[in-house]
Amino acid sequence: MRVMQVDASPKRTHSSSKMLSAHFIQQLRQRITDIEIDYIDTSLNPPPHIDHAFIEALYTPAADRSLVMKQALSYSDNLCARALMADMLVCAMPMHNFSMPSGFKALIDHLVRSSLTYTVNADGTSTGNLSRQKVLFITTRGADLGPGSPWEKMDALRPALSSAFSFMGADDPVFVDVQPLDNHDVVSEKEVLDQAYQTLNAIAQRWVTGI
Ligand SMILES: Cc1cc2nc3c(=O)[nH]c(=O)nc-3n(C[C@H](O)[C@H](O)[C@H](O)COP(=O)(O)O)c2cc1C
Repeated sequence: MRVMQVDASPKRTHSSSKMLSAHFIQQLRQRITDIEIDYIDTSLNPPPHIDHAFIEALYTPAADRSLVMKQALSYSDNLCARALMADMLVCAMPMHNFSMPSGFKALIDHLVRSSLTYTVNADGTSTGNLSRQKVLFITTRGADLGPGSPWEKMDALRPALSSAFSFMGADDPVFVDVQPLDNHDVVSEKEVLDQAYQTLNAIAQRWVTGI
């Protein structure tokens, strides 16, 4: 079992999203003996922002790419290969200004690749190639943007993640949106986190028994 675990909080300590993703991985480890974790921290090792050289290489047919062009795509090639090899993708991140941290957006920009994570069909439609992978998003938020809250419509994180990953074939990702975590009420924050840990335990159990 191969799991790609991505943490996108810039925090080095006391990151709630990192704690929750570590907990989920621990839950998997308890249930699966043969497990390999491919770990990425987009803050410690930031994916490069896509630039002119990347786009030029991207739009050059693979057979015609120069060495320089191949180098411009090498981070992306490697990332796509790792995601395609994985059985599970576990991505944890805080909400930053209603959307995802910029490091995770940069990662997505390298992951959405024609002929790798999606295929363009003869009729112009496309098929995503990450349909085999189980995908979990753990998102932590300071405020409550959940269903029924006045802030619900401001949640640009969940739709953005859904769109990008659905395009790559992951049509049914699991979301654990953990909120609110910054309301300065220690008791309610603990309740929110406890609930999230319980939910993650259940997902780990479901994923492992469903294998
Ligand atoms: C730069 C920045 C922007 C943030 N923007 C939002 C936001 O738009 N909505 C929200 O609910 N919380 C926002 N927060 C709060 C974090 O999402 C929240 O504290 C989260 O629990 C942090 O997770 P972490 O500890 O894993 O980094 C923001 C925090 C930072 C540092």
